[in-house]
Amino acid sequence: MSNNSPITIKDLKSPKGTFLLGHLLQFNTYNKHQVLERWVEESGHLFKIHFIGKEFIVSANPNLNNKILRARPETFKRFSKIDEILKEMGINGVFNAEGMTWKRHRKPVTEALNLKNIKAYYPIISEKTENILKKFKNYVANNKQTINVQKEFMAYTIDITTEVAFGYKLNTINNNVNSFQKHLEVIFPKINSRVTAPIPIWRYFKSKSDKTLEVALKGIKTIIYDVIAQAKKRIEANPQLREHPTNFLETLLVDDTNTKLSDDEIYGNIFTMLLAGEDTTSNSLSWTLFYLAQHPEIVKKIRQEAIAIYKDESVLKNYKNSELLKYTNAVIQESLRLKPTTPQLYLESNTDTIIDNFSIPKGTCIILQNKVAQTKDDYFSEANTFIPERWLKNGCPLHNNHTPNIVRTFGGGSRYCPGMHLAKSEMVTLISTLCKHFNFKLESKPETIKERFEFTMYPENLEITFTNV
Ligand code: HEM
Repeated sequence: MSNNSPITIKDLKSPKGTFLLGHLLQFNTYNKHQVLERWVEESGHLFKIHFIGKEFIVSANPNLNNKILRARPETFKRFSKIDEILKEMGINGVFNAEGMTWKRHRKPVTEALNLKNIKAYYPIISEKTENILKKFKNYVANNKQTINVQKEFMAYTIDITTEVAFGYKLNTINNNVNSFQKHLEVIFPKINSRVTAPIPIWRYFKSKSDKTLEVALKGIKTIIYDVIAQAKKRIEANPQLREHPTNFLETLLVDDTNTKLSDDEIYGNIFTMLLAGEDTTSNSLSWTLFYLAQHPEIVKKIRQEAIAIYKDESVLKNYKNSELLKYTNAVIQESLRLKPTTPQLYLESNTDTIIDNFSIPKGTCIILQNKVAQTKDDYFSEANTFIPERWLKNGCPLHNNHTPNIVRTFGGGSRYCPGMHLAKSEMVTLISTLCKHFNFKLESKPETIKERFEFTMYPENLEITFTNV
């Protein structure tokens, strides 16, 4: 091999595995992301693993990862098993679509979630924030100060996503047992385990959990199709909705272009928004509170900023002011950097290609491990410390070593997360409000709160005590 020849898969190292099963047993745990992190330490930033002969490349090289993300949709697609598993569950939406179909799905989804629409949806975020604030105030008043924030934040994000996506006022925040949330909690871990399962056992034998999954999928399907039928009737009765649809679902239904989505695709995209928007955002909120409960001085700064911007109001009421919460925005950025709820992405090459002198044949499965770089001193000073100031333009004491472009919590290239603005708006609004009204204390030592990966990465055993300011 001459010095200029590209590196090939054959040249890559592999962490220690077993002869036939390869790396399957080590990987087949809940905490896949931590196994990958360990292997990066052991084998470097580019290596290969295999599960009973099925090979995967793992890259934790942020430059290579960025180039691969940007080479979509032509050169790379999502790992094809994701589409297979989601389709099998009846989900036919933008996350698992490819090529021209993906373009057709992506356009209305991106439009529905663009900044202009998030500004229009902002009253929904404000109202839900008011609801959860009232609920937490009640808890504290009734001496139930230790709160399972993860559960509460899920209710918050599901209420917002359902109202933004299809105008459905779910009010999960005030009705703890909600079928939507119950069903999603069954579906999330199943997608995760099926995508990386070497053998699709559920196709030959249905376990109890497979049957529970079927019930959950059926439950969600019934609700969403019912909502679609209601929206159709509403549009028929109010033709002005054709000109001014009031939510994502109505926008899709009144589309009369030749790229119009079918009912099945509309259902798939509504489902996708629920899947992609709930767990990711609520777990990111939980991680933010995990840090804030250890940093009362940061909570104080967020509170001062909230008082300066929206004064006596209990909750922020307009989007414009949320942009002025610069410090709170920096806190969110820092939390998303240190605790990305999506630490890795699974892709596959569509063609033979050479990227960064690495030769990748068609059909190569590649796992982009993005979290390791986000927490490396090569890219951020004191990379493992929670320092929101690093994201402030003039206040950054660490500006010499600050590489925002390697943070891939929302993915990258043309398939980056279209829900980013919505997620950040929810996070800034809720965190600002909570800090304005409460102080927080972790109920257990930080080291006992473990990262756990199911559909996304969440803090296990996180319980936080709230007290009034
Ligand atoms: C903190 C919260 C969130 C995180 C960390 C997150 C992260 C991600 C990531 C990593 C991807 C894959 C991007 C890629 O392949 O390059 C993605 C895709 C996606 N996200 Fe999010 N997301 C969040 C919130 C949301 C919300 C609130 C919605 C909508 C309600 C949403 C909708 C989507 C959709 C539809 C896709 C598929 C895009 C495509 O394939 O073209 N996400 N998200």
